[in-house]
Amino acid sequence: MILTVTLNPALDLTYRVDALVPHGTHRVAAVAERPGGKGLNVAAVLHALGEPVLATGLLGGATGHRVAALLAAEGVPAAFVAIADETRRTVAVADRDDATGFWEPGPRVTAGEWAEFVARFRELLGQASVVALSGSLPPGVPVDGYAHLIRLAAAAGVRTVLDTSGAALRHGLAAGPDLAKPNAAELGALLAPARAPAPVPAASAGQEMADATVVLDHGARAVVVSRGPRGVLALTGEGAWHGVPPERLAGNPTGAGDACVAALSRGLRDRTPWPALLADAVALSAAAVAAPGAGAVDRDTYHRLLPAVRVSAA
Ligand SMILES: Nc1ncnc2c1ncn2[C@@H]1O[C@H](COP(=O)(O)OP(=O)(O)OP(=O)(O)O)[C@@H](O)[C@H]1O
Ligand SMILES: [Mg+2]
Repeated sequence: MILTVTLNPALDLTYRVDALVPHGTHRVAAVAERPGGKGLNVAAVLHALGEPVLATGLLGGATGHRVAALLAAEGVPAAFVAIADETRRTVAVADRDDATGFWEPGPRVTAGEWAEFVARFRELLGQASVVALSGSLPPGVPVDGYAHLIRLAAAAGVRTVLDTSGAALRHGLAAGPDLAKPNAAELGALLAPARAPAPVPAASAGQEMADATVVLDHGARAVVVSRGPRGVLALTGEGAWHGVPPERLAGNPTGAGDACVAALSRGLRDRTPWPALLADAVALSAAAVAAPGAGAVDRDTYHRLLPAVRVSAA
């Protein structure tokens, strides 16, 4: 199975209001809640595709129980380690025009809880063929936490996909993940660590290639840079490719990168040749844009786009 690691999951709450007015009081028309966190989105997409998957990570308190219950209701197999502090919530207030987000800080993880997670992870590696490590690290998890997990996976012969940002990405890359999946802003922050992740101005094709090479210089064996509606740029030991969706989809792009990681993890498991793997990743992540929430994909869009994705040598 594919093991997904979510060390800083969340209960995602969406409040729907008519119009968001700063300093005002709002009647909330509808409240939606779902299990949040990038690794949980990866697990949900794989589960929806019928792929064997197990979600692990850290959950705490009543909010952690709620996340576990929502995952169980979706039928996503899970094996989380309990922590004492409370799992965070993320609140999005959506009105007619747009959404405004409030991200709680992650829970504090003790050294003992981290050690317990590492021991659990080692056990779970016995059943895994690929591990996807996604998202931020909560306070208390060492900044090289992903690096430690990647080394344990490699020692167990399990391939790894790393999708994180900032210092966690830089340290994780040093452990040599089989694949890293930064988006353009995360790649920009890796190139200029002092700069906070921000939209990156359009670069020339040569510059994009040079930038992506830096991820390999940091230690990854392959990199897939996701570039929003422009698709992906992949640099691997077997070659370099662009994968471009046949159309730009309107919808909800949050979680498109997680669907991309789901497809890449499945492709690594199956040792799918890169061009076919990239076409699958581009079609599936576009299908995530077409589906309303993160962690979901629109099957019709996936099957319609898959034969039309253009993959060309870069
Ligand atoms: N509007 C779109 N139309 C078609 N495909 C898209 C669109 N937006 C994104 N994609 C596809 O989804 C992939 C991942 O998107 P993106 O680069 O935004 O990931 P991300 O920033 O990591 O997202 P997240 O972290 O929210 O999951 C892109 O490489 C592209 O193939
Ligand atoms: Mg992402």
